[in-house]
Amino acid sequence: MKIVKRERNKIQAEEIANQKAIMAQIRALFAARPLAYVDTYGCQQNEADSETIRGMLDEMGYAFTTDEFEADLIVINTCAIRENAENRVLGNVGALSHTKKAKPSQTIVFCGCLAAVPETVEKIRRSYPQVDLVFAPNLLWMFPELLRRVLTEKGRVFLTDGGDGAVAEGLPVKRDGTVKAWFPIMYGCDNFCSYCIVPHVRGRERSRDPEHVVDEARQLVADGYKDITLLGQNVNSYGAGLDENINFAGLLRQVCEIDGQFLVRFMTSHPKDASVELFRAMADCERAAKQIHLPFQSGSDRILRLMNRGYTHQDYMAKIAQAREFMPDIAITSDVIVGFPGETEADFEDTLRLIENARFDGLFTFIYSRRPGTPAADMEDTVTHEEKHRRFDRLIELQNSISDEQHSKHIGKAMTVLVDGESGDARYPLRARTNGGRLVHLNGDLTLVGSFVEARITHCNSWSLFGEA
Ligand code: 5AD
Ligand code: SF4
Repeated sequence: MKIVKRERNKIQAEEIANQKAIMAQIRALFAARPLAYVDTYGCQQNEADSETIRGMLDEMGYAFTTDEFEADLIVINTCAIRENAENRVLGNVGALSHTKKAKPSQTIVFCGCLAAVPETVEKIRRSYPQVDLVFAPNLLWMFPELLRRVLTEKGRVFLTDGGDGAVAEGLPVKRDGTVKAWFPIMYGCDNFCSYCIVPHVRGRERSRDPEHVVDEARQLVADGYKDITLLGQNVNSYGAGLDENINFAGLLRQVCEIDGQFLVRFMTSHPKDASVELFRAMADCERAAKQIHLPFQSGSDRILRLMNRGYTHQDYMAKIAQAREFMPDIAITSDVIVGFPGETEADFEDTLRLIENARFDGLFTFIYSRRPGTPAADMEDTVTHEEKHRRFDRLIELQNSISDEQHSKHIGKAMTVLVDGESGDARYPLRARTNGGRLVHLNGDLTLVGSFVEARITHCNSWSLFGEA
């Protein structure tokens, strides 16, 4: 089978048109609308991919359910970032042998990052016969063609290699929300941090054309979306390899120039590429949310070198100081890994010191997880499981006290927030976000969903603020 036709790194329009024709053929196979369940694990990129999967399924005639027994088609969009994510996925796929037994006509699809990990694919092939189709994330655009083979030829289909470097435009998307939209602007990653599996499963970094990005953003604004997040593993290197002379700061300015009342966020940023030019663009553009997610991963220069991160503790602190010079109120969030192979108590204390000084608005804390095939997997890991957990708990405790302090600064203040949904809590029925992306539970009328409102913050806990619209 011919896998990828390229014009530079683009999947040709005729190839996409071919997939669309196949979607129509699949639709014609069914007398009544079949039901699909799309189960998504992991990051926002996976959420965005699932929205494309739903868009394609919608065109193929599927309606949607969250009941695994009722579904004619189950799509498991998987995450490979840490071992516990992998175990959770495999446990759930294992349980699908029951739904398949109850409904032998059911089709089960295994895709996302784990579908590009050779060892996992082998496990699926050998021990999970209920799975009918496996395809790697870079081959998402071929889903209609692959599904047609499963539905009409009745064999198992595995396509887990290839498509690296490709960008497919024009696939249908069925978005989950009506206020917030995830929106990939680039794919893959070239940074090869030594612990990370992403560059191995999502392939080389490539950017979407700026015209496509700006057109799609304009359409989102026209459709009423108010909170748009530009996605990429490292948005700060947007534009590398494009013919157009554009970088991420330039793209952000273009998106922010679109007419309408909306906010633009982005994630994730790599500290080594977050530039003064970017901070200036964020500060200049009213529609750019004053928020940045800037993972530091470790506060120890020795560990940062082993991680292949390309900056030091001091570089990182200078970077966030610079961001705050341009935007004194900017909300800064970060990721950190504890228990990297060989991390000593002194290394860990450097991490605590960074957290103490950085005063993050939020921090995502992870225990190092060994990913076969990555360089760190071959490093000697002398830190015990118990010690990793002890360090993890110390980090959480420190950050919680900082988050409490950061949150309490907002009490009594009035601020503009975007109401993006319902909370399910009768006393505070509205869920909203501040410009900096902080969660606010509000009391107020449900008709406010989708609008920017003035809110007074009354109290807080470690995770969110509470207030009145
Ligand atoms: N183990 C633990 N955490 C990891 N991350 C990435 N790879 C690993 C790993 N092998 C974390 C990093 C990254 C976030 C998305 O996940 O902190 O920023
Ligand atoms: Fe992984 Fe590093 Fe790329 Fe982020 S920048 S996806 S941590 S390799």
